[in-house]
Amino acid sequence: MAKIKTAIFPVGGLGTRFLPATKAMPKEMLPVVDKPLIQYAVEEAAEAGIEQFIFVTGRGKSAIEDHFDHSFELEHALAAHGKEEALSLSRSMLHKPGAVTYVRQQEPAGLGHAVWCARHLIKDQAVAILLADDLIDSNSGPGCLSQMIAQYESLSHPGGNMVALMEVEPAETQSYGIIQPGVRSEHNSSLVEVKGLVEKPSPHLAPSNLAVVGRYIVEPGVFAELESQERGAGNEIQLTDSLAKRVGKVPFHGLLFQGERFDCGSKLGFLKANVAYAMQHTSLAEPLKSWLKNSRF
Ligand code: UTP
Repeated sequence: MAKIKTAIFPVGGLGTRFLPATKAMPKEMLPVVDKPLIQYAVEEAAEAGIEQFIFVTGRGKSAIEDHFDHSFELEHALAAHGKEEALSLSRSMLHKPGAVTYVRQQEPAGLGHAVWCARHLIKDQAVAILLADDLIDSNSGPGCLSQMIAQYESLSHPGGNMVALMEVEPAETQSYGIIQPGVRSEHNSSLVEVKGLVEKPSPHLAPSNLAVVGRYIVEPGVFAELESQERGAGNEIQLTDSLAKRVGKVPFHGLLFQGERFDCGSKLGFLKANVAYAMQHTSLAEPLKSWLKNSRF
């Protein structure tokens, strides 16, 4: 089986939950401490062995392209002032020429539609998908995508689809894709067979409390299903619906990953992420803790 070397980053959404911040700025460029969300996702993918990075962008998202390119004025100024550390930081996000591809989603018709827009860039093999607004802190261990690829490549029947899973409160099921779980792997109880998948079910209809978060490994059959352009929840073309149609046709697993996920598409999740990441920052943790302790809040 070919190794997973390609990842899609759908960044074409409107980010309406984060207005007005996202009116002119892509949600994926919001910083957690000092790094934009998209950079965390790209670094997680690179750590997992990804070599080809495909961004599905939309209008108003050009800051993302600029972020992963040279900034001549900035680099010139930093070099002139001898700021070597800042200079190498600014250049560190450049990838090999040709490793990054951009494709425009002309209308934000849903995550499934965004993924489908990358279909011509996918060879006949499995690819990873990462949603940058789901920030996953793996507590210095292997990143979420690394964990998934390791499991995917060690399956006894390799191939098929895999999603990252976390447990949610039963009352929260309508905010997520929820799986119907099958058997757990004998070798790894975090690996769950997926027997079904429902987008945003109300709690009394949810088949479990195991929710899909924004990391996927998908096989080409999912792209074939996306061709039908069927609209689902919210009148959007949902990735979940095409994944659900592959259940029973190819192997399908969910991985309860190690780490903590922050929903940075929501204000509360974004604030929590900033506090959690700042607390791991040597120069910020103590002053922030002391401010929180003594603040009027
Ligand atoms: P969300 O469900 O968070 O939607 O998308 P959104 O539009 O970005 O944000 P809200 O709900 O209006 O606040 C999850 C991921 O899918 C991408 C988003 O960019 C985000 O990374 N997406 C969503 C697309 O690329 N295109 C779409 O049409 C929809």
